[in-house]
Amino acid sequence: MFPMSAKDLSRIPVEDLTEAQAAAELARLSREIAEHDARYYQEDAPIISDAEYDALRARNAAIEARFPALVRPDSPSRRVGAAPAGRFPKVRHAVPMLSLDNAFSEGDVRDFVERIRRFLRLGDAPIDFVAEPKIDGLSLSLRYERGVLVAGATRGDGSIGEDVTANVKTLADVPHRLAGTHVPAICEVRGEVYMTKSAFLALNERQAAAGEPVFANPRNAAAGSLRQKDPAVTASRPLGFFAYAWGEMSEMPAGTQSGMTEWFAACGFKTNPLMRLCHSVDELLAFHREMELKRGALDYDIDGVVYKVDRIDWQERLGYVSRSPRWAVAHKFPAEKATTVVKAIDIQVGRTGALTPVAKLEPVTVGGVVVQNATLHNEDEIARKDVRIGDTVVIQRAGDVIPQVLGVVLEKRPAHAQPFQFPRRCPCSLHTPVVRERTASGAEGAVARCSGEFACPYQRIEHLRHFVSRRAFDIEGLGEKQIAFFYAQGWLKEPADIFTLEERNESIRLQEQEGYGEVSVRNLFRAINARREIPLERFIYALGIRHVGETTARALARGYGSWQAFYDACLKLAHGDQETRQEMDALDQIGDTVIDALEAYFREPHNRRIVERLTKQVRIRDAERPARDSRIAGKTVVFTGTLEQMTREEAKALAERLGAKVAGSVSKNTDFVVAGPGAGSKLAKARELGVTVLSEDEWLALTKQG
Ligand code: IVH
Repeated sequence: MFPMSAKDLSRIPVEDLTEAQAAAELARLSREIAEHDARYYQEDAPIISDAEYDALRARNAAIEARFPALVRPDSPSRRVGAAPAGRFPKVRHAVPMLSLDNAFSEGDVRDFVERIRRFLRLGDAPIDFVAEPKIDGLSLSLRYERGVLVAGATRGDGSIGEDVTANVKTLADVPHRLAGTHVPAICEVRGEVYMTKSAFLALNERQAAAGEPVFANPRNAAAGSLRQKDPAVTASRPLGFFAYAWGEMSEMPAGTQSGMTEWFAACGFKTNPLMRLCHSVDELLAFHREMELKRGALDYDIDGVVYKVDRIDWQERLGYVSRSPRWAVAHKFPAEKATTVVKAIDIQVGRTGALTPVAKLEPVTVGGVVVQNATLHNEDEIARKDVRIGDTVVIQRAGDVIPQVLGVVLEKRPAHAQPFQFPRRCPCSLHTPVVRERTASGAEGAVARCSGEFACPYQRIEHLRHFVSRRAFDIEGLGEKQIAFFYAQGWLKEPADIFTLEERNESIRLQEQEGYGEVSVRNLFRAINARREIPLERFIYALGIRHVGETTARALARGYGSWQAFYDACLKLAHGDQETRQEMDALDQIGDTVIDALEAYFREPHNRRIVERLTKQVRIRDAERPARDSRIAGKTVVFTGTLEQMTREEAKALAERLGAKVAGSVSKNTDFVVAGPGAGSKLAKARELGVTVLSEDEWLALTKQG
């Protein structure tokens, strides 16, 4: 057994973290959360429970609250989900589709209501809330123009979703034309697509009988069914839809959430019959208790309840904090648990060489889903929980994911059970030693990595898999199995090899391999050739550089515009050029962690060779420069003195919503100082520096000019 490392950052309470440790933790959390987002949103194959995911986010938020200066440009608190998979055309949502903050306890719910009171300066005035079940499905936005359904889109990354219009039209609960007399010219109706539990079981039976893969749970089944290429397949899957929100509306048919719900119903949508108007926190909590009791008897999965401020004018004033509205919260149910036996502990090697232990379990049903694997995260987690092969463990599964091991039932431990020996060598054929990295603060990181890097076959294969994955090069017909096979044959060692496969096929003769024929080989080469041109951001993401996820890749692509400009900068960076470092640092969303990772990557001759070989094979399309739309977008604003029309918090939120930065002090970089009565030194400073000073009214007028 390995002693618990007191230095393991992930276990240090937030209050005790030093600044350097906090920075390292934020970097780790950002990376981990991004990976989990991708697994959940893209692959419908999450590997940790919701509860665990929520805990990662909560820790990130708590560290950011303590060290606001350390908030990373790529912080999870600034992102929603991950960008959508590459299968369907992309659509930009006219109004972003956001996420909800979570509450887990009565205290969290009371805090949520108190925050609203303070923000709106409501004192003790009553607030009405709509309380409704939180459906465990996937959100969908339906666009109607002059009452006719013109588009259906998934949430995707919140800004850009997938266009699933043809599939959506096959859903019985989605009207093709809005009923009723009051139909604005443009209406976007949003809600949740779900599959009932009974339909899910029947579908899985059919899938199994046909030798097709079964779905882990109704949510995945709904997501999989909606993302079918053939709408006829979607039509054959029983999907339901509850309307509960809206996007762009040319006119608002109601002034309250409950009024909007009635309007949805009048238009022909199903709305959840359990929805209830509540007038106090106690009523909200009673609703939560009631739904928790009802949960098992409902024919669809719910994972909590949602509370929304009823008055829409208040919703608008409350606005959003990066990814979620201030006016709504998801009050989650506790996760479901079960006990089972650990049959084995496998070690999986990831793209960056991280060794992840996975418990192989005696199959057990948790919340209606058969569970056989549970993640054990890392070496320290196994040691901390002292999980041994043969142990009976309590596992927890929330919603829809690979469950986690909560702990061991010690009374049931077999006498012969031995502490798990975490391997000191990679399970790959080279058996390279495993290293525990140091974090920025010098502490030992929790992740054990294979030190083999370019030589470790597992890492190479994972790299190639990442390269062809949906959000990277998206090459159909080159999946996990094929990559492993091609690698073992020596046909594929690095990305450029994919593009020379066709010319080498004269000697390889893939069509003669088992499982291949003339047609599948032709299709594979067609799929490969279709990717010889690729947008810059995808290309950068596909390289699989540490810390360069999709959001970061997009930011780099936008910042540099072309591959040549980006590559030149990276080479200079690799030579230690400080000017380039500063130039990169000035880019939105890019900070030291990313820059260090780029520097390390491009310093390595092996990587440069891989990249240069690859760029000879593909054409990289320049990035689009983002459009600026609001008058104050990109401007820096300082508020000083008393504001009379709204709280400081609300003013700040409004400015940020329009793309402005709100700063605490005046400098030559300040664009506007908004001064109210009582303004003092900041106003004087603004005058001294010649910064534009606005009254609250002038400022508000500017925000309304759009
Ligand atoms: S309201 C501005 N209401 O939960 C946010 N969301 O965790 C509007 N969800 O993305 C969302 N049931 O997919 C809302 N009754 C409900 C919901 C619900 C399920 C999902 C939705 C959202 C996610 C956030």
